[in-house]
Amino acid sequence: MALADGHFCSGEVLGEALEISRSAVSKHIKYLSELGLEIYSVQGKGYRLAKSLSLLNKNTILSLLDSHDASQLIVLNVIDSTNQYIKNHQSKLKSGFVCLAEAQTAGRGRHGKTWVSPYGASLYMSMHWEFSAGYQGLGGLSLAVGVAVVRALAKFGISGVQLKWPNDIYLEGKKLAGVLIEVDGHFGGACQCIIGIGLNVDLPENITNIDQSYIDISSVLSSRVDRNTLAALLINELTASIIKFELLGFSSFVDAWRAVDVYANMPIKLIMGQNIIEGVGRGIDDTGALLIETEEGVKTFQGGEISVRPA
Ligand code: BTN
Repeated sequence: MALADGHFCSGEVLGEALEISRSAVSKHIKYLSELGLEIYSVQGKGYRLAKSLSLLNKNTILSLLDSHDASQLIVLNVIDSTNQYIKNHQSKLKSGFVCLAEAQTAGRGRHGKTWVSPYGASLYMSMHWEFSAGYQGLGGLSLAVGVAVVRALAKFGISGVQLKWPNDIYLEGKKLAGVLIEVDGHFGGACQCIIGIGLNVDLPENITNIDQSYIDISSVLSSRVDRNTLAALLINELTASIIKFELLGFSSFVDAWRAVDVYANMPIKLIMGQNIIEGVGRGIDDTGALLIETEEGVKTFQGGEISVRPA
């Protein structure tokens, strides 16, 4: 994209480069703004991005992957949801296929929430995997994915990343990334998983519709974030982790998860529908279930949403 370097570019120059009229340029700019890209328009100077942009590039990512199979990666511009893309094409995909997009118009979060997905501001990534062991082999998968994200970020130079059960990725006490796993299949047979990851890279200043405290990578790194390198690290780490998970199960991730547990030994509350359980976070058991020390002793939980409880 001609504007990616963050310099002013006139509508005329953009129109010539794209072989479209100036009014078509202005329509494209409006569309990109609606997708969350911050673009300044100044009379007589043209258009400029509020921040320079590192666009995703399939060949660059492929060159950094452990497996360079071009048929296993698609990089899209705008899509409703990368998880939905995988769902729509799942019957033809091989395990390890990855879909990345610059923007999502209907990004999905956990609990039916929307995942705000402005253009070029984050990584929106989904991987397809078929698990021959079926549903019963999936216990702890989302936690293992969280560990893979922490490892990829450490390789990218970001330390201090923590996990909030079951699979939110936290940095400096704020949400940095989220994982949404969607599963399809018949009981007793193989199941198809969509492993979706949204990782905040450089969110626009003017974002208003995220309902929790969040952080992005650009606020902790001094240099510009290279999203292609980051995407490749994530794909490599995720692939290796899922292969390990299929072979050895969640037990091979338990210690790594416990080492980055953001709520370990903290006063927490767990909300499960109408029920609220209060206690002290005691990490996870060997299956990935949450342990909370309550007044009646340590209890195990499989689901729910946790938050810190003011002391
Ligand atoms: C969460 O709520 O914490 C999970 C967010 C997961 C968002 C990612 S972005 C890529 C993939 N596609 C989606 O529609 N959602 C996931």
